[in-house]
Amino acid sequence: MILPIYAYGNPVLRKKAENILPDYNGLKELIENMFETMYDSNGIGLAAPQIGLAIRLFIVDGTEIEDESTADFKKVFINPEILEEFDTKWEYEEGCLSIPTVRADVSRHSKLRIRYMDENFKEFEEEYNGMAARIIQHEYDHIEGILFTDRISPLKRTMLKNKLQNISIGRVNVGYKMKFAKK
Ligand code: NI
Repeated sequence: MILPIYAYGNPVLRKKAENILPDYNGLKELIENMFETMYDSNGIGLAAPQIGLAIRLFIVDGTEIEDESTADFKKVFINPEILEEFDTKWEYEEGCLSIPTVRADVSRHSKLRIRYMDENFKEFEEEYNGMAARIIQHEYDHIEGILFTDRISPLKRTMLKNKLQNISIGRVNVGYKMKFAKK
């Protein structure tokens, strides 16, 4: 089932999300729905707050990206914790399904170490780099209540102010189902 994606301006996108337990009601179906929703909107990552749930869960599929780091990068991250971010910072133009039509350069560390559980609540501790690390950092921000527009230059943010305001009231052309804060 395709779920509506919560647009910029919805308070759930600003909450620090909570850990979940293995018996979380309907978890398997929720994850399936999130993948379906992400593919429908051509996303490469989707975090639970973006479908209205303030829980520490995000999914990724970067397998279509031409980058060594994302060759097998289709995963579910549950209760993740970034343990360390390191190495050089690099800029990349990011976008977000919750902020359609907006793109901006964001500077992030190129490597990270993360502990998380997969969809079977098996625990992993792994290192990521390149685009895989970038996608994790973006999605991890979502479960911390942070959006990529918080990480852009003040000048760029000022320039985007009206556009963001318009998105929050649904004044935006988008090819997938969204939930707007006010209309
Ligand atoms: Ni996003």
